Amino acid sequence: MLSHYSSAGLLALALAAAAPAMAADNATSLSTLEFKNRFRASGIVPEILPAALDPSVSFYASYVRTGHGNELILPGASLTVSEADLPFEFSVENLNNGTNVTANSRFLIYLLDADAPSRNNPTARNLRHYLAGNYTASGTTSQVLSTAQRLTIPTGQFRPFTSFIKPAPTANTGVHRYIFALYTQPARYNNAGFESAGQEASIENWNLTQWRTQLGLGPAIGATYFTIDTGANGGQGTSGNVPAGNGAAGVAVPVCMAALAAVLGFAALL
Ligand SMILES: *[C@@H]1O[C@H](CO)[C@@H](O)[C@H](O)[C@H]1NC(C)=O
Ligand SMILES: *[C@@H]1O[C@H](CO)[C@@H](O)[C@H](O)[C@H]1NC(C)=O
Ligand SMILES: *[C@@H]1O[C@H](CO)[C@@H](O)[C@H](O)[C@H]1NC(C)=O
Ligand SMILES: *[C@@H]1O[C@H](CO)[C@@H](O)[C@H](O)[C@H]1NC(C)=O
Ligand SMILES: *[C@@H]1O[C@H](CO)[C@@H](O)[C@H](O)[C@H]1NC(C)=O
Repeated sequence: MLSHYSSAGLLALALAAAAPAMAADNATSLSTLEFKNRFRASGIVPEILPAALDPSVSFYASYVRTGHGNELILPGASLTVSEADLPFEFSVENLNNGTNVTANSRFLIYLLDADAPSRNNPTARNLRHYLAGNYTASGTTSQVLSTAQRLTIPTGQFRPFTSFIKPAPTANTGVHRYIFALYTQPARYNNAGFESAGQEASIENWNLTQWRTQLGLGPAIGATYFTIDTGANGGQGTSGNVPAGNGAAGVAVPVCMAALAAVLGFAALL
């Protein structure tokens, strides 16, 4: 199983390296109001995120899509398991309009599965797949949306609290909603990790309300999400070749060290 994750990770890296030559689909901006509306329509608000979610920036993740190359993901996009690697890019529009954002602001980003092991029986909700701080506005333009700028972590400041764990939902566990959120980072974390506030490493049953209070965070300033449909094509469609019963009760399996190293090297470029 570990070699499966390793080769998947390396394949994604190879695709990421090869992809820039391919033309991206014509990406268009989404207003913050449209982000808000899509979060409501998906049920994520208020089921997972508070009803008060009111994005002040348009926050995007971008993926290498099979047969399409580099693509901006809009909230609600459906990815396959093989596509759902760490995005090759995070980007943002109207950052100066973000709450508490100054020229020196840093940001933190997470990815979680709201529907672990399934939406019908989400006993591991929320399952954290990634959490890192120290993102900054790079001033460089997104590869896929000319009005957006990339968010990157400067070299030497990449200390993910939760290293990326590739989504691996069990087949036939319905549609999983994977949520990214962007927060303005309180200055105290410019020199200290989240463990300094007592955050624990456990990734299951992550209570966002309690976490925000613990870290002293305001509400998310931006958020986006994608879905993986584990039921399509008899459980093999958009979920790829994830066999039923893979993983512990549908909980993601940590990537092996080789894939992790690859992801770390990759992510340091984000
Ligand atoms: C992108 O835009 C161009 C010009 O507006 C159009 O001809 C083309 O079909 C579009 N491509 C996609 C994938 O939508
Ligand atoms: C900036 O935020 C204000 C509310 O704080 C909103 O009225 C305005 O439309 C936003 N501007 C943009 C460009 O999103
Ligand atoms: C940010 O980077 C500094 C090193 O420059 C490190 O001490 C700190 O733990 C990092 N904070 C986070 C939240 O990753
Ligand atoms: C999450 O934490 C809040 C605040 O501590 C608490 O009120 C709430 O019941 C918790 N939610 C769950 C699902 O445990
Ligand atoms: C903005 O800063 C104030 C004061 O520190 C804080 O109470 C609030 O939660 C912050 N909001 C965001 C979105 O970071």
